[in-house]
Amino acid sequence: MNTEEMKKLVAKEALKYIEDDMIVGLGTGSTTAYFIKMLGKMIMNEELFDVYGLPTSYQARILALESGVPVVSLDEVDAIDIAVDGADEVDPHLNLIKGRGAALTMEKIIEYRAGTFLVLVDESKLVEYLGQKMPVPIEVIPAAWRVIKEELEVFNATADLRMGVKKDGPVVTDNGNFILDAKFERIEDPLDLEIELNNIPGVVENGIFADIADIVLVGTKEGVKKLER
Ligand code: A5P
Repeated sequence: MNTEEMKKLVAKEALKYIEDDMIVGLGTGSTTAYFIKMLGKMIMNEELFDVYGLPTSYQARILALESGVPVVSLDEVDAIDIAVDGADEVDPHLNLIKGRGAALTMEKIIEYRAGTFLVLVDESKLVEYLGQKMPVPIEVIPAAWRVIKEELEVFNATADLRMGVKKDGPVVTDNGNFILDAKFERIEDPLDLEIELNNIPGVVENGIFADIADIVLVGTKEGVKKLER
């Protein structure tokens, strides 16, 4: 089974958590994209009723609308029943790094408030400790990017301003900010670092999601493994 097949497998498994009348946080990225498309099919086929998606990005919003998932915004809902999203790293305590898709701020706003936060990954995302493979994306106010980059040296981190692939110059997030990708030597205490980074003036949010994932579905060659806190 290849990586794409593993992603589809966990996306299909995630549908079992969706019931009628739910508000569902819709994550960003390639794994959640499979989930959004499958959810749209179930809604269109009248296998689910009164399910609304709450997108974490323009990418998720556009895909939801194209797939037949009706969307709502945060100021229209009282409660978020479940949020479904991918991750870039998952440690043994189910702490995450997220934000490769630059949508970390709205992802955290929605997923922090969800009744259940369900994470979908393939087995390549499992790590012994956060920072093992991926940098921590940090969304910053554009005018402050250089001073924050320098201040990250206090944490023994080296940070790069994320540049666009199909755009000249820096990546601009859905909120109009820049992203610094900060490489840390080894993240011993994810919750502590998550809080400390957000204390730096000019930082909007960072991609450490400590203590908020409830369930992680892992796509493996042998099938789906369920990890729970
Ligand atoms: C988006 O900002 C990210 O947090 C994604 O959720 C994360 O990068 C996972 O993406 P993939 O499912 O494409 O690996």
